Amino acid sequence: MDKLLITGGSRLSGEIRISGAKNAALPILCAGLLSGDEVELSNVPRLQDVSTMLKLLRQMGLGAAQDGERVVLNGSAIDKLEAPYEMVKTMRASILVLGPLLARFGEAKVSLPGGCAIGSRPVDQHIKGLQAMGAEISIEAGYIHARAKRLKGARIVTDMITVTGTENLLMAATLAEGRTSLENAAREPEVTDLANLLVKMGAKIDGIGTDRLVVEGVERLHGASHAVVADRIETGTFLCAVAAAGGDVTLRNTRGDLLDVALDKLREAGVVLTSGPDWIRVQMASRPRAVSFRTTEYPGFPTDMQAQFMAVNSIADGVSHVTETIFENRFMHVQEMNRLGAAIVIEGNTAIINGVDHLVGAPVMATDLRASASLVIAGLAAQGETLVDRIYHLDRGYDGMELKLRGVGARIERVKS
Ligand code: EPU
Repeated sequence: MDKLLITGGSRLSGEIRISGAKNAALPILCAGLLSGDEVELSNVPRLQDVSTMLKLLRQMGLGAAQDGERVVLNGSAIDKLEAPYEMVKTMRASILVLGPLLARFGEAKVSLPGGCAIGSRPVDQHIKGLQAMGAEISIEAGYIHARAKRLKGARIVTDMITVTGTENLLMAATLAEGRTSLENAAREPEVTDLANLLVKMGAKIDGIGTDRLVVEGVERLHGASHAVVADRIETGTFLCAVAAAGGDVTLRNTRGDLLDVALDKLREAGVVLTSGPDWIRVQMASRPRAVSFRTTEYPGFPTDMQAQFMAVNSIADGVSHVTETIFENRFMHVQEMNRLGAAIVIEGNTAIINGVDHLVGAPVMATDLRASASLVIAGLAAQGETLVDRIYHLDRGYDGMELKLRGVGARIERVKS
């Protein structure tokens, strides 16, 4: 298992090119199931989750030619309507094949994802929405088996805001008979990016970017070309790295308007930010100030940035409170940060962080994707060497993170074991 060896204390300077968003690319790849024509994608990030999704889609018969960040999908020969347990258990986003398969082929069999490191994460809302559209759904031997001759438009109000739930139902609704309204829809930029692609494919969607998506179903969708939106979480991760380690870095191929609240919080921490339409420059010359926040759905502070920001707070001047409201178990990084000398205690769903003067490198263990990123940031800011174990989590969701960091002067290397 690979590890990352980080020697902390270097200021970061230079440029980083941000990749396409993982959480937009995954549903967008599944949208290829909705059409018999070609869907040409660019700015697709090169990461393990994308490879896993392509493997899953190919075994269903979806043509998928990948050349760097370009992927061409062809849905003319899909012959297997199943997502097996072996694949779903490694990547929960596999649930995103359910809506498209059911809508286009009238049947789908997808393994139930089960729990994961950050919480129980049920998919009841995906099921409830498809049932409202007329699907017959049974759970057999750990599989969701869904059938519907043709889905019918419905008014669906989800109990909570769910990102992949909205995406699954949105894809299903594009080919349903009649009008579907998705109330309480997620407004994350990744949902908007998927909706924009679907419109290019001929879907009729109103309210894109709002919490009410209204879809007029069509008979078929056609091919389209689309560039995946910039990864706002990768962007925020590098911003936090500079906030913690200090330096002057320009991020290219990204957009500040995708992460307004996180940028405000970074300014509050003392970071100097300037930006243009497709770049953000981050400068940090001092110790950060402690900043409190609570995670909420978009456009609020993203749960996917909570751990990375906590790394900044761990060495900040002052005490901060960080409340996680989306997932019940997303503080796994706290124990590991404390091993580096951070002073963090957890009370319920709030972490209280007493900023320390400095962290000291140590061996630490990554537990999930964003926790891994937070430990890398902590390692960059710490004195001495930090060895981050189980970085396969990082490879799932970041396109060449250590190469990008090395490019701006970080001392970080991959150790094979
Ligand atoms: N929920 C339910 N029932 C459902 C669906 C969701 O109870 O049917 C609950 C979840 O358990 C959670 C909350 O609703 O407590 C929100 O979950 P959501 O469905 O929005 O999360 P998700 O769609 O499974 C996506 C991202 C996550 C990100 C969350 C929140 C993808 C592939 N994943 O997950 O990304 O944290 O939205 O923004 O888009 C990551 O990239 O590291 C990551 C975990």
